[in-house]
Amino acid sequence: MKHFLLIATCFAVLAVTVVAQDDAEYQSWMKAAAATSGSLRKNLEAKNSDGAAADAKKLEEIFGHVHDYWSAKHADDAMKFAMAASTGFGQVAEQAASGKLDDASATLKTTTSTNCGGCHAAHREKAADGSWKIK
Ligand code: HEC
Repeated sequence: MKHFLLIATCFAVLAVTVVAQDDAEYQSWMKAAAATSGSLRKNLEAKNSDGAAADAKKLEEIFGHVHDYWSAKHADDAMKFAMAASTGFGQVAEQAASGKLDDASATLKTTTSTNCGGCHAAHREKAADGSWKIK
């Protein structure tokens, strides 16, 4: 019986740790998404197509992880936003790499306005201390 309790406690601690780690990782993706899309915008303005393509590729990858996260939670709407964001950034990367910077800017605008905002409205919640949490 003692052993059983010990093992059960271990699992409970483990489960809590995994959830906390997941959320911390999620937050690191969002922070990277905000920083990288800022850099992408600057690179497009500066007509730095290589830099812009690299940023967009990174964003495509980040939202691939975000997609898998929501897929594991079976949240269809969030999964679709993440997938559309990833696909959109992939397209920005291609357009930037082939020097079509105006097209890349336009794609960036629609990708962020639809998907960042859409998912935040549905799945982001402000905590009492002013930080963001997952809903
Ligand atoms: C699929 C859903 C989804 C998409 C798409 C999404 N976000 Fe988020 N975002 C969230 C959730 C949920 C939170 C709250 C949890 C958190 O802050 O970790 C969040 C939080 C954030 C935060 C606050 C981070 C913090 O806690 O300090 C920033 C900044 C952010 N997102 C930027 C972006 C940008 C920029 C995009 C688009 C390029 C984007 N997000 C797209 C779901 C999404």
